Amino acid sequence: MLYDSHAHYDDRQFDADRCEVIAAAHKDGVEFINNIASDIETSKTSIALAEKFNFVYATVGVHPSEVRGMTQADIDWLGKAAKHEKVVAIGEIGLDYHYDDTSEEEQELWLAPQLELAKELNLPVVIHDRESRGECMRILKEHKIQNGVIHCFSGSAETAEEFLKMGFYISFTGIVTFKNARRAIEALKMIPPDRIMIETDCPYMTPEPFRGKRNHSGYVYRVAEKIAEVKGMTFEEVAELTTANAKRFFGVK
Ligand code: NI
Repeated sequence: MLYDSHAHYDDRQFDADRCEVIAAAHKDGVEFINNIASDIETSKTSIALAEKFNFVYATVGVHPSEVRGMTQADIDWLGKAAKHEKVVAIGEIGLDYHYDDTSEEEQELWLAPQLELAKELNLPVVIHDRESRGECMRILKEHKIQNGVIHCFSGSAETAEEFLKMGFYISFTGIVTFKNARRAIEALKMIPPDRIMIETDCPYMTPEPFRGKRNHSGYVYRVAEKIAEVKGMTFEEVAELTTANAKRFFGVK
């Protein structure tokens, strides 16, 4: 049984068959799925999906690339929405300096109150950190965040180690199955098994040998297989452990 800890079924690519894909993945052994929000609209969709499927959980939050035009009213709304019984985290939030359509200042400005909200509500955070040159880690430390997961990790072993010291979990996508994933594999080698989670980030990050196709939770087993290979564990051990980790982290029974 597997736990896809990070999926985006609100994405347009699932408009034609969203419910069928989710149900099929569950039937194929994906015990739990988190649908991860990236703005106010997808926070609502995530909650709606979690209400529809008993094995789907939701997050609420605004992604760094979506913060433009945010207001305090949005933060207030997130605070209320986060109290829904199936909301398990604030996310995905963080910094993304890859695209320059949202300024670094604006991203920081709206990351801070979302971090404070998570602390106030005693919820974990799902962190998106892309090319932020250590800024994301600095802000997390500044806000004394200890209950978080770095999603879609592709950084170095040193970066992973520092996040682990802060109490964070590290989550891996299909990236670990790519030929050029040497850095992430090196990090994976040193991360204690009880701090690892798996995710698809679907419809993106499709693992090998399915690259080029739309990703979905039914492919998350490929991430577990790769982790088993790197860690010298069996697939069953990785499945059991990563599911237990995610359940503990997100408070899912
Ligand atoms: Ni994502």
